[in-house]
Amino acid sequence: MCSTGEQVVAPQDLLCEYRVNPLGIDNPSPRFSWKVVTQERGSFQTGYQVLVSQNLENLERDIGDMWDSGKVETRQSLHVVYGGKPLQSRTRYYWKVRIWDQQGRVSPYSAPAWFETAFLSQEDWRGVWIASPSVSKLSSAPMFRKEFLLTKEISRARAYISGLGYYELRINGQKVGDHVLDPAWTDYTKRVFYVTYDVTPYLRKGPNAIGVILGNGWFAYSLTKMHPTPQLLFQLHIEFQDGTEECIVSDRSWQVTVNGPIVENSIYHGEIYDARLEKPGWDMPGYTMDPKEWCIPIIAEPPGGIMVAQFLEPIKVVQDVIPVNVSSPKPGIYVFDFGQNIAGWVKLRVRGPKGTKVTMRFAELLYEDGTVNQENLRTARATDVYVLKGEGIEVYEPRFTYHGFRYVQLEGLPEKPGLEDVVGRVVRSSVKQIGSFRCSHELLNKIQQNAFWTEANNLHGIPTDCPQRDERLGWLNDMTVRAEAALYNFDLACLYTKWLDDIKDTQDPATGAIADTAPFRGYGRRPADPVAMSYLVVPWLLYVFYGDRQILEKHYEGMKRWIAYLEKATDEAGIVSYSYYGDWSPPLTESVPGSIGAGALSATTPGVFVSTCLFYYGVLLLSKVAGVLGKHEDEEYYTSLAAKTREAINRVFLDAEAKTYATGSQTCHVLPLFLKLVPDEYDKDVLQNLVEDIEKRGGHLATGNLGSKYLMDVLSEYGRADVAYVLATQTTYPSWGYMVMQGATTMWERWEYVTGGWQAEMASHCHPMNATVSAWFYKTLGGIMPVEEDPGFGRIIIRPYMPRDLTSVECVLQTLRGPVRSEWRRTSQGFVMNVAIPWNAMASIHVPIDKESAQEIVIQESGQTVWEKGRCVDRTAGIVEASTTESSIVFLVGSGTYRFEVIDLER
Ligand code: BGC
Repeated sequence: MCSTGEQVVAPQDLLCEYRVNPLGIDNPSPRFSWKVVTQERGSFQTGYQVLVSQNLENLERDIGDMWDSGKVETRQSLHVVYGGKPLQSRTRYYWKVRIWDQQGRVSPYSAPAWFETAFLSQEDWRGVWIASPSVSKLSSAPMFRKEFLLTKEISRARAYISGLGYYELRINGQKVGDHVLDPAWTDYTKRVFYVTYDVTPYLRKGPNAIGVILGNGWFAYSLTKMHPTPQLLFQLHIEFQDGTEECIVSDRSWQVTVNGPIVENSIYHGEIYDARLEKPGWDMPGYTMDPKEWCIPIIAEPPGGIMVAQFLEPIKVVQDVIPVNVSSPKPGIYVFDFGQNIAGWVKLRVRGPKGTKVTMRFAELLYEDGTVNQENLRTARATDVYVLKGEGIEVYEPRFTYHGFRYVQLEGLPEKPGLEDVVGRVVRSSVKQIGSFRCSHELLNKIQQNAFWTEANNLHGIPTDCPQRDERLGWLNDMTVRAEAALYNFDLACLYTKWLDDIKDTQDPATGAIADTAPFRGYGRRPADPVAMSYLVVPWLLYVFYGDRQILEKHYEGMKRWIAYLEKATDEAGIVSYSYYGDWSPPLTESVPGSIGAGALSATTPGVFVSTCLFYYGVLLLSKVAGVLGKHEDEEYYTSLAAKTREAINRVFLDAEAKTYATGSQTCHVLPLFLKLVPDEYDKDVLQNLVEDIEKRGGHLATGNLGSKYLMDVLSEYGRADVAYVLATQTTYPSWGYMVMQGATTMWERWEYVTGGWQAEMASHCHPMNATVSAWFYKTLGGIMPVEEDPGFGRIIIRPYMPRDLTSVECVLQTLRGPVRSEWRRTSQGFVMNVAIPWNAMASIHVPIDKESAQEIVIQESGQTVWEKGRCVDRTAGIVEASTTESSIVFLVGSGTYRFEVIDLER
């Protein structure tokens, strides 16, 4: 081995459990990932060495006093599991890594990174849950305070806090951190998140004060408590420069009041804030408490769940949106339009006499007269109220609610407002955007933008179904289809990992049944509809997208039990015997008039057919999972169960004469094709029937939430991407383009444009189950696809489909290994493809040239001819292999950027 090391770049972007320098983890064996950023072609890793140390000094001297992995010969650069001495609670550890490359050259060590543990044992908690003794003012937000004196210089301090429903932590007059609507919602009887803050800069030698405000959040919808009052658990560890320590915990030495300014707060209804009730200085030392208002808190019953360090990205204000217009449809009523349907709230700036009441009503829609239309919000009042204290310019934004809206209507303002008096605050889980797609067709760009916003507006600690009405739940059926598109747009490793625990928490220990929604608060049913296959689809996608094998291990038993439940629910013929929602919410013409969900039940696709197909899908996935985990007996079992189910579906539903399934609806054709369960001899005809149905409808889909996704996948996979393209660019009802034509800025729940009437009951204008087309943009027009045999984008397929009237596409996806880029554009002679493949990855780049034309073209790669007269003439660096398929010339390449220029000699 040559180990000069000079030319090999050090690893960077070190991640511990998917995060950069995480503060407060409770995983005793965290996982490490890294990447190398290099332009070098064909660059990959052949070995690594990780060092973990208790202090930086040792690490700098290359001593891993906690763990020295030694040189491990492997290509693995993702999720390397810590294998050192047991970690201690509340301790920071430093780590670094070096790698060996494809030539056996060693890199320098990376810059150091760190992770810090929180409580590794439940016994570390010394504080107790406290609450206000007053239950008379259920909805007002209690404020807790505690003063204390620190007599020594502080070296470091950490606060650990949980507050149910939501907390805001303040120290010495300042809000700590930038989380909002924290902690994330879980089933509190199973798991409660706490959050770690480095509060060293907030404290000082001398008198200090902590203040905490609690909101109702989802705690108000607790299934086990009748009138849950918010409750707080807190622990502050202060280390002094002299090496001693002090600990402040939540207990009965605190004070609490329910006479604060947040008079009412509710996720669905909004917040009422009376600024006259503010208590200036309450979160500062030296504040004089009015004994009529403040009292000693009671010890509250613990919610029941174990305390877990919150590991997903917190909800934050991620963006401001400036209104594009303000109108006054009636005297004294002002309606602001943000030009975009968002989730969050508004920041209001106002001046006026004390006691003036300003009402803000949020809506996705307007009436003809220009006032807000809240008909589709069901019982959610979606209204914030601010009562002025009358002291000059006042700025208000709520704390414990959020809304889904494009418009806000202000009433009661003392003066005519200006555009600058209202700012839209976009509030969501602060996950990173990791994908982008643009092309030469503006309608498609707009659809992608709408899909992006729809998904963004529905990430609030869980993937919600909608952000506006009295629902906002993690529906598993929607997630079965929605997750893939979401993963092309956002980094959801942590959020989905968390949500899978939510699903597991819904599982009935006796039967294995999971619920329709997670966390489960009695909305939807348990057992879930069999289409709730996201409990298998999402772990599998996390494995494929991030190479996360642990998630499969963690949920293996749970997945098996859900499949076992469904297996028991099959009848003698092998058909799953129940269904509630099926292919939900197709165009109204396809649905049962007046059925549940304001007519959202499909009349044309039988429920049990959908249930059985999705069951088959789940069994297939489970057999793959068993294979990955090396559980070969299980693998065999599920493979044979899949074969039996496939046989049952074909026996019961296939009409061999007509070459259709069940009723022959689009979804009835799509599901068997997607699942590849159609006998080979019928494939083409089933596909043809599907295409004819679309054509008969003038290029329109007739599918519900599930069918719409698989429809696009199937058409593209079976060689009819041209038809999928017609659907994607369609502008008349029903289509995504139709929504755009009606002014939509996010995807609707219904294919119809519903603004009122009976359908308004179920007519969210921001529903990600209908945003799945975004995955099609990435996978088909951009052509970027992971390969499940080498997960985490270790192996990548780049296979763009180039529709005739599209002249260019730019598509980028940030993976754990680095960016994958696929760009193409037509030229006067042919087309150019620019592709970037990250370090430690391989890709098959499909240049879309069919067999015949392969003779007539020349391909140059970065100026050098690599293909001529139907064969590969030269392999520039990085190109490992070239071959042809029916429809493309395929170059197998390693990392690097490539520019393939296709010159059509016949032109
Ligand atoms: C949700 C949907 C979900 C459906 C299932 C609705 O209330 O909004 O997204 O698919 O229920 O019944």
